Amino acid sequence: MAVTDTLFEAARAAMARAYAPYSKFPVGAAILAEDGRVYEGANIENLAFPQGWCAECTAIGAMVMAGAKRIVEIGVIAEKMAFCPPCGGCRQKILEFASPDTRIHLYDAAGTARTMTMDELLPFSFQTDTIDRG
Ligand code: THU
Repeated sequence: MAVTDTLFEAARAAMARAYAPYSKFPVGAAILAEDGRVYEGANIENLAFPQGWCAECTAIGAMVMAGAKRIVEIGVIAEKMAFCPPCGGCRQKILEFASPDTRIHLYDAAGTARTMTMDELLPFSFQTDTIDRG
């Protein structure tokens, strides 16, 4: 199966587990990491609205907790929106573990991907050599 199809299936499965009772806008994300594994995430909302978080955050958390540190490719899907663009904060969070040429796939319901690079998704991003990245 092509990587894009694998990420589509994984993101869609994750979306089915979203906890989005307030927005009723389920989102799923799936990351292919450098360890070859796929990490999934869905948005998880909260009655105190700002405390909820995005699908991409859940997937990044799963990846990091499993010991992986690099996003090779990432896919996102939202059932109510074809090609759901990650929010601004998630773009920065994805960038932390990505490269300028990392591919981001935004899916519609049929699994058709609109694919772009990290650089295209977040141009003129915050990066600096003045902070030691360790
Ligand atoms: N959402 C995501 O999960 N990812 C995004 O990049 C865009 C927005 C979620 C947050 C909230 O639970 C719902 O979609 C509506 O904004």
